[in-house]
Amino acid sequence: MTSVGIDAFEIWTGNLVLDLPNTFAPAQGEDPEKYTKGLGLNASSFPDSYEDIVTMGANAAHRLMERKGLTPEDIGRIDVATESSFDKSKPISTYVAGCLEQVYEGDFHHANKGERKFACIAGTQCLDDAYNWIRAGRSRGRAALVIATDTALYERDDPGEATQGAGAVAMLIDEDPNLVELSAEQGYGSADETDFLKPQQQFPSVDGKRSMQVYLARMREALEDYESVAGASHPDDFAYVPFHTPFPGMVRKAAVLAYRHTIRDTPIEADLAEEIGRQPRREDFDDKAGYDEAIRGYVDDLKATERYQTWYETTIEPTLTISREVGNWYTGSVHLARASALIHAAETDRDLAGSALGVGSYGSGAQAEVHAELVADGWHEEIEAVSDHLDDQLAERYDLTFTEYEAVHDAHNHDKDVETAELTTPSREFVFDGWGRMGERKYRYVE
Ligand code: CAA
Repeated sequence: MTSVGIDAFEIWTGNLVLDLPNTFAPAQGEDPEKYTKGLGLNASSFPDSYEDIVTMGANAAHRLMERKGLTPEDIGRIDVATESSFDKSKPISTYVAGCLEQVYEGDFHHANKGERKFACIAGTQCLDDAYNWIRAGRSRGRAALVIATDTALYERDDPGEATQGAGAVAMLIDEDPNLVELSAEQGYGSADETDFLKPQQQFPSVDGKRSMQVYLARMREALEDYESVAGASHPDDFAYVPFHTPFPGMVRKAAVLAYRHTIRDTPIEADLAEEIGRQPRREDFDDKAGYDEAIRGYVDDLKATERYQTWYETTIEPTLTISREVGNWYTGSVHLARASALIHAAETDRDLAGSALGVGSYGSGAQAEVHAELVADGWHEEIEAVSDHLDDQLAERYDLTFTEYEAVHDAHNHDKDVETAELTTPSREFVFDGWGRMGERKYRYVE
């Protein structure tokens, strides 16, 4: 059977950057190390006043199509994942297709278009849809375009303001992929939760601390469900483990729990027993509270072992590089983590073809999903092309002062009728171009 997976991708960051330790922290009266050490973030990407989820998604997709030499006829499906949609009926994929049709001769009239919503996990769900569509034999030899695009903004002075970000990841899903192959084995952890939601509002209502607990609980369920189909996993199964990364500190917490789970009853647990004892077993405790406390103590000890730290430095830390510089991109976040890992492998001359990645996606509300991906032979060439562009784009972002940040945040606030001058000059990209007669947002391509 032919393999199906991610053939290629491109990243598009918002054109502005907010320096968290040097600009945001002092203005908020906070210690810069809360950002750099606690949350693990240096900066947030931010959209200029002419940017939004459509421009960033269309720009990422355009760049991808140009690099791969594709025309609209090569695409049979466009799925957009976002939790920042401004239209409750017309999907963002139609706006994106409209943008792309301005720069291509052909059109996307025979491509199936949709929009997926389940907080940050929707990008991964779009990959599933594309995979299933191709596997079902419905693609007519065409590829699917999956675009994860978000402006992850919070209400001013909400604790979440520290973790904002804006950008898009466009992925091409096809047979015989160059980058990674997907498989039918996956695990879910899903429950009705009210940790983070946007009922009829632009900015989220967030119970921050609870959202972190829910992330960990659902991720654990998803890992157990994955193991029920793929067999027990072992930390050495995966070259890298990209997680959904709202901020790197969250992944620090998830990684140690995943490691603890996967070393249970393995020689690693036995090797570590001399240093930190064996993991507590539920049957040895009268009540759950006592067991939970013992597990917390074991996890603290585990975190401090050289063995764990070496695994973390090799398998997890390299997935966090982009996130530290751009913040949370919601639906794009786990796909940035994969990109960070592959860029790290290329930079350190790691021969990754045939290795596995263990991918942990998450969306508030809440659902986690765990699956493995097999790195394909063409990964190196593909990642080098992405990485050159990405470095340039990150370096070229306009560095906001705090006053400018306040103005740009207001300009993106749907409840405020303010206009802000552009801080950057768009070039060879789609931009927001005002409102149409039915209240639709309009776009044009700037040479
Ligand atoms: N030096 C070093 N570390 C410091 C520090 C300093 N001066 N000051 C604080 N820290 C540490 C804290 O100890 C804490 O680390 P630990 O959790 O390991 O103890 C970390 O920095 C953050 O500090 P606070 O807990 O005081 O931060 P906060 O209460 O202001 O907010 C937050 C943190 C709850 C994550 C908030 O940013 C938030 O609500 N974010 C949005 C929700 C979110 O991202 N949740 C994540 C799971 S949900 C999800 O993943 C979906 C999604 O994308 C939104």
